[in-house]
Amino acid sequence: MKKIIFDTDPGIDDAMALLLAHACSDIELVGITTTFGNASIENTTRNALYLKQKFGMSAEIAKGVNIPLDQVRTEPATLVHGENGLGDIKIPKIIDTQISPLIAHDYLIETIKNQPGEITLVAVGRLTNLAMAIKKAPEIGKLVKEVIIMGGAFGHNGHTGNLTPFAEANVYGDPMAADIVINADWPVTLVGLDVTQQTFMSNAYLEKLRVSSAKYGQFIYDITRFYAKFYNDDLGLDGFYVHDSSAIMYLVAPQIFTTKQGRIRVITDGPAKGHTLFKSSDRVFSIDEWAARPKQTIAINVDPQVFNQRYFDVIC
Ligand code: BDR
Ligand code: CA
Repeated sequence: MKKIIFDTDPGIDDAMALLLAHACSDIELVGITTTFGNASIENTTRNALYLKQKFGMSAEIAKGVNIPLDQVRTEPATLVHGENGLGDIKIPKIIDTQISPLIAHDYLIETIKNQPGEITLVAVGRLTNLAMAIKKAPEIGKLVKEVIIMGGAFGHNGHTGNLTPFAEANVYGDPMAADIVINADWPVTLVGLDVTQQTFMSNAYLEKLRVSSAKYGQFIYDITRFYAKFYNDDLGLDGFYVHDSSAIMYLVAPQIFTTKQGRIRVITDGPAKGHTLFKSSDRVFSIDEWAARPKQTIAINVDPQVFNQRYFDVIC
């Protein structure tokens, strides 16, 4: 059984990933920490509480901070995820679910320390909570099993950015946090646009899911109508990429991904803000601020057919 804490900004594709994790018999969803991005921290936290209540999750939920480490706010992605963050479906006003008294980064530290060697962090939003946790308590690095991140874009298969031409949205939203988390003393895998933009769920696939999964199908179909319209308006696609579920899929089916190891740095400011750089060679240059960085893993290919089949099988 893989125990995870899911760090997320639900978010339509975040909700799809959360349901995948909840439905997957190999995963124990220990906690959910919320971050800002697809919507405000109030909305992403409310959405997490709503999903927990609606689908009967036992995971504890801890709310994160509302601003990136560099204090430069970006607007919530309402164009992609709707005003409420869940494609503007109706959400009950009163949600009868408790929130942790701990702020997200303290919740991460406490839970990791209480279960040494057992927790995998799966992060699918801005990396602010993880960065604050590892800065405050660097000793948790050795206690975490692994860190899987949906974020970044390394140019494989031509994918370099989705929010700007050279930055993926989660990294752009808190590039300092991303650089800290990726270069901390814990094993990191980045599942970035290189692979998430190889995945694709068509509207026909969503329709099939709708009629095949009594528990999740209609809900996933409903929240994704807004998302699908954005992809259609923006890119002319009849469906969408499956970003955040790719991180959960990597956890349970790493064999369908191809990976590479190397050192990673994040551009934290300027015209390439949020750009992720990857150095695979071991050559040490005369000026080399990379040498001291840990080697981490990036995913560069995925089998999209097996991905969709696996998502379908778990959800249905
Ligand atoms: C990432 O940005 C967010 O909008 C999605 O939820 C995903 O985590 C994709 O770049
Ligand atoms: Ca997300």
